[in-house]
Amino acid sequence: MKIAILNERRPNETRVAGSPEVVKKLVGLGATVVVEKAAGAGSSMPDSVFTGAGATIAKDAQSALKDADIVLKIQRPMIAGESVDELSEFSAGQVLVCQMSAMGDPNYVEAMAKSGVTGFAMELMPRITRAQSMDILSSQSNLAGYKSVLDAASEFGRAFPMMMTAAGTIPPARVFIMGVGVAGLQAIATARRLGAIVSATDVRPATKEQVESLGATFVAFEDEEFLNAQTIGGYAKEMSEEYQVKQKAFVAETIKKQDIVICTALIPGRPAPVLVDEDMVKSMKPGSVIIDLAVEAGGNCPLSQMGKVVVKHDVKIVGHANVPGRLADDASKLFAKNLLNFLTPMMNGEGAVLQIDEEDEIIKGTMVTRDGEIVHPALRNAEEEEADAPETEQVGD
Ligand code: NAI
Repeated sequence: MKIAILNERRPNETRVAGSPEVVKKLVGLGATVVVEKAAGAGSSMPDSVFTGAGATIAKDAQSALKDADIVLKIQRPMIAGESVDELSEFSAGQVLVCQMSAMGDPNYVEAMAKSGVTGFAMELMPRITRAQSMDILSSQSNLAGYKSVLDAASEFGRAFPMMMTAAGTIPPARVFIMGVGVAGLQAIATARRLGAIVSATDVRPATKEQVESLGATFVAFEDEEFLNAQTIGGYAKEMSEEYQVKQKAFVAETIKKQDIVICTALIPGRPAPVLVDEDMVKSMKPGSVIIDLAVEAGGNCPLSQMGKVVVKHDVKIVGHANVPGRLADDASKLFAKNLLNFLTPMMNGEGAVLQIDEEDEIIKGTMVTRDGEIVHPALRNAEEEEADAPETEQVGD
């Protein structure tokens, strides 16, 4: 079985979907591993560490992909119409495992199906205990949460901890975390370690205890809707407009007193909720910092700009793209380990094909295309609904 690890070609991508440890394990499982030249250059992994672990180096993507059974990537390959058509280099029957953003983009999934590639979208991993070690969203969000606090500290013109010096006392920074999932919890822990006074909010009631157990204060509008805001899958529901109005008033009062706001709120498959509007930004003290980790999903603050640090109303608003990629070494190693944990049960050491059990919950949850077809139930339903929809009559021109 030949496994190819490719260079990432999308902007802002510094990570690689492999590591020496993972290559060694894959070779131990009977695979041949080929890494594209310089694939690890952005994450402090030169080609030599991969050859040392038993891989060979291919001069380009085309030679890495030749005869590959499985392809590992961080980001989904680009398709026709993007700056390079990476997918056209793939062959039908190859298995691709990567972050695919499959739910938000039917055209992409259609292109994947047409290519004949068997595509696994790792972001769709079910949130069950058995799959925890395969969950790329968790491994990457954890690092993003940590880095968001360091980014805030480096943009902030003051210190985080209280300091009593001969020249006077520096008060501790006040940090407010919005959204207490994996990133938010790590942000709370990191800000606490730096000595800040931390508070946090979320719409899922389960987060209250988690916030308090980390020594932070929980603030939220706790009504009936709040008590039912978590889906069975563990994610947040999109809240009603009525709740959003109540939440906004509550948050507005809290935000004025903060030095740092770290936004991490996401709703799978939907744009990120707007939580910090322009009036709230105006109400903050000069020199305050907002970190918008949700910027790639539209942002929790409408003033944030992807890939930029902007100053609005004397507040610094940070919208770094691909925050896990700012810790590329660790992020790559954890991502690669997630992929290894996903593939291992399907590799039995015999033959060149993966043993894909279509009845397995993890396969059902992540397999998007196979044999030229879209196979994921959620994507198939969307496709069928579209096909069944009555044609709308054109009125006028
Ligand atoms: P996420 O990245 O989808 O969202 C981040 C946070 O934003 C969530 O806590 C969400 O409740 C919050 N949020 C959404 N809308 C909001 C709003 N309007 N106001 C305030 N906050 C809002 O979530 P993430 O980090 O992926 O984790 C969600 C849950 O899944 C967590 O409880 C986590 O512990 C659990 N989980 C379970 C796993 C497993 O069992 N395999 C693996 C990873 C996470």
